[in-house]
Amino acid sequence: MAMKKYETLADELESLVRNGTLLPGERMPSVRRTVQMRGVSPSTVFEAYYLLERRGVIEARPRSGYFAKAPRSPVAAPELVRPRTGARKVEISDLAVEILSSLRDRDVVPLGSAFPDPALFPLETLARVMAARMRRLQPHRMVADLSPGNEDLRRQLALRYVNSGFAVPAQDIVVTSGAMEALTLCLQAVTAPGDLVAIESPAFYGCLQALDRLHLRALEVPTHPVDGVQVDELAKLLARHDVKACWFMPNFQNPTGYLMPDASKKKLVQLLARHRIPLIEDDVYAELYFGARRPLPAKAFDREGWVMHCSSFSKSLAPGYRLGWAAAGRFARDVERMKLMSTISVAVPSQLAVLDFLERAPLEKHLRALRTKLQARQDMAMSAVRRNFPAGTRVTQPQGGYFLWVQLPQHIDALKLHTQALSQGISTAPGHLFAPDARFGNFVRLNYGHAEPAQLQSAIKLLGRLCALAQQESTAGA
Ligand SMILES: Cc1ncc(COP(=O)(O)O)c(C=O)c1O
Repeated sequence: MAMKKYETLADELESLVRNGTLLPGERMPSVRRTVQMRGVSPSTVFEAYYLLERRGVIEARPRSGYFAKAPRSPVAAPELVRPRTGARKVEISDLAVEILSSLRDRDVVPLGSAFPDPALFPLETLARVMAARMRRLQPHRMVADLSPGNEDLRRQLALRYVNSGFAVPAQDIVVTSGAMEALTLCLQAVTAPGDLVAIESPAFYGCLQALDRLHLRALEVPTHPVDGVQVDELAKLLARHDVKACWFMPNFQNPTGYLMPDASKKKLVQLLARHRIPLIEDDVYAELYFGARRPLPAKAFDREGWVMHCSSFSKSLAPGYRLGWAAAGRFARDVERMKLMSTISVAVPSQLAVLDFLERAPLEKHLRALRTKLQARQDMAMSAVRRNFPAGTRVTQPQGGYFLWVQLPQHIDALKLHTQALSQGISTAPGHLFAPDARFGNFVRLNYGHAEPAQLQSAIKLLGRLCALAQQESTAGA
């Protein structure tokens, strides 16, 4: 039977993706352009694109068009690495501090950075609306907008919770200097020095640093790099240890990118409510989702106010404005008091700039564009890792955020790799940063949201080459 026109067109386009002419994450030619170039009807082009979508070669992104997809990952996800059992002191080594400062060097390709590319944010618009709002500001508001924060802003934040399908009263929201302050105020509100806090393994280094600074002890909970905290194992730990708080990140965790299923989030919240243990929830990456909707936070399942939800606009809208918040449930008043006692409030200009974005709704448009760009970069980064890293490498493919968590073959030392890569102008975040010991010594977190696409691909290629060399050396020496 003769092939239909749209099938021929689909085969041709598919071969452009398979042979790398169109890279994963790249936009497919528009329908209009294909109609003009091929002299076919729009419906033939649509049929061809629908077919390619069914074949898994391309994907439609809402309001953005069709994009080439990476072939399904033949690379396995990293394994669960079991933490050491028992409570432990957390001490951030000089090495970690040294690595973190090396990530700030502007001359390196920042695969180790925790920030996305600042060029992805509407900085000019923010500056403009901030200046306009400040010019119109009634003098008394300068004081009225101090802690717990601008009332309209807190109302807008509360409305965003409503849009996600659950209610948080505006009065319970305290505006903070970024999520980091929200998280540490929450931690201070529910612990005293020497207390035990359950954390993920691996964990965000900001969490480890906070525990170190506040003289708290850590209890590491087994955490799967794909579906997160193992709630049944946490339940056993809670039966044996006097845990005073948990600090977890159920959505797009840093560094693994895991996303806990809603059922696990619910089970976690119920378990902690039974034990009357607060959950400090870090939710800074949730807006950067690639799926159909924002994943729910654990807070959505909170019936008794034990969840202290912390987030910010640092990763999604306004890096450097230091605008975050805590919705701390039954501890809201404690957090408000601590905020007032520590730094009084967040700068009024930052609050007003973000408020303007929330009230006049260009936020959603910006977020849609940001997600599309990050997803395209993830596709590129995944396929570069797949092509260039040695056999035995495992990597997560998170459904949001901008990190890949890469498990290198056992004998490759991520710290050595970091030093070698840095000397060649590329930073990485070695696994050593994410635990109180070197258990993740053969892991590396790569940021695909910062470097320019071409730079990103060549940096991953070079890293892959360094890994392959390291592996050859280790097999030659064995
Ligand atoms: C997981 C995680 N939580 C919290 C923060 C801090 O957010 P903010 O810059 O809003 O203080 C970061 C920033 O790197 C982060 O990666």
